[in-house]
Amino acid sequence: MSTHPLPPFPAPTTTPTGVRAGRSLSALICVVAVGAVTACAPSEGAVAPSPAAAVAPASPGAGASRGTMGAPGIGDPDFPSDGNGGYDVQHYDLRLSYDPASRKLAGSATIEAKAVQDLTSFDLDLHGLAVSRVTVDGGAAGFTRNKDELVIEPGRRISNGDRFAVAVDYSGVPEPMRDSANLGKYGFISTPDGAFVTCEPNGAKTWFPSNDHPSDKATYDFQITVPEGLTAIANGEMTGTPQTKAGKTTFVWREKHPMASYLATMTTGKFQVRTGTSDKGLPIYAAVADSFHGSLDQLFTETGKITDYWSTVFGPYPFSSTGGVIDDYAAGYALENQTKPIYGGFSPEPTIIAHELAHQWFGDSLSIGRWRDLWLNEGFATYAEWLWAEHAGQYTADSAFRRYYANAADPMWNYPPGTARASDLFGSAVYNRGAMTLHALRREIGDDKFFPLIREWTNAHRYGTVTTQEFIALAERVSGKNLKELFDAWLFQPRRPAPIT
Ligand code: ARG
Ligand code: ZN
Repeated sequence: MSTHPLPPFPAPTTTPTGVRAGRSLSALICVVAVGAVTACAPSEGAVAPSPAAAVAPASPGAGASRGTMGAPGIGDPDFPSDGNGGYDVQHYDLRLSYDPASRKLAGSATIEAKAVQDLTSFDLDLHGLAVSRVTVDGGAAGFTRNKDELVIEPGRRISNGDRFAVAVDYSGVPEPMRDSANLGKYGFISTPDGAFVTCEPNGAKTWFPSNDHPSDKATYDFQITVPEGLTAIANGEMTGTPQTKAGKTTFVWREKHPMASYLATMTTGKFQVRTGTSDKGLPIYAAVADSFHGSLDQLFTETGKITDYWSTVFGPYPFSSTGGVIDDYAAGYALENQTKPIYGGFSPEPTIIAHELAHQWFGDSLSIGRWRDLWLNEGFATYAEWLWAEHAGQYTADSAFRRYYANAADPMWNYPPGTARASDLFGSAVYNRGAMTLHALRREIGDDKFFPLIREWTNAHRYGTVTTQEFIALAERVSGKNLKELFDAWLFQPRRPAPIT
């Protein structure tokens, strides 16, 4: 969340010292990563306004058809080689073993999928790593590598509608994605004692073969083996107690709700763990690297409190547990990993926890079908920061809105957030102008329509894939108002909208 500029609000006097380090550190990382302060801000220059519905969202199996060869991309116009066509994944079963000393990962992934066309070959996404064996439904399959595409030729043709299981054995030293232009380092990042694993937007392929795009969600089983004394953290809940044999411990995790590949994690290392339940009875898993031991109780407590509060504002919590992880890798950003947001090298202040936990509804339960709709994740999560600050008595959402609005020279006015740019995906406009869009909408339709709308949104699309057009349509239905002009001005025009009343 921190690749965008800091909001211009003074630290509340109640904020513990040190907490803000996360944010300043983030800004610093951004500068270091891109080499220029301005690169952290949205790019200058107007782009032609584009209606939200101009391009269909990617969807499982979509992608340019090549006869019976599954397409090498799922059809996201801005990330053409991300994901794949021809099938829809239902489940990933990942058996992984990681040795921090040699940085070697050994994996065996079984992917259960359903064909949506006849297939004589299909792709998985995989970045580096050596593949030793591929089977489809237990029979040996041929495979070739082409950049980050693993092209698989099953022994016999898969028919449209067939369910099939592809198993891939692989190993090697994972290499994270490095995008100096805008995303920094992400994916599987090794640390002295383990790995920090944050995959947005397309870094899942750095540690497992996948249909690496949020429009193809699936359930996950993880079995992760690490040297004794280390902890392996994945999504969902742990099943059983970790088993130790011959100096190695195996952790078994299951995420039974659909999950986008970029939200999967296998973060490992020396961690202190606290488990328990929130006031409302939701299981909490909090873990911190040793150097953050002083933050464990606060992370645990705030996570439970904020998750419970959001469930009264956004609707029922979509997953079976909540949590958080602070690793000592100084990523300078956080990521909303499903059920367990991760904070990269800083102790998060409550508004950041509020941001990442809001993503459990906006981004995780409701996922975007193409990256240009990212404001549906980041605009909502940023608005949640304002709502939390207001709830905590720090500043009001309205004052946040007005503070941003007052700066007529802010480059975000040139960046219509309704079309997030691949070259500047996590730009300030997507976060802050996205949040302002929601505030403008709230003022237009009133609290008595706005909050029911938000709950209807999370309820109607739970575990699904969403588009901006669907949100606009629902807002019009719930409010009974024509809101096209409002959304067009806030999301799609390269200029500052007229003031709100
Ligand atoms: N979605 C994250 C957040 O807003 C930001 C992820 C940034 N990703 C990156 N590769 N820099 O919390
Ligand atoms: Zn975010």
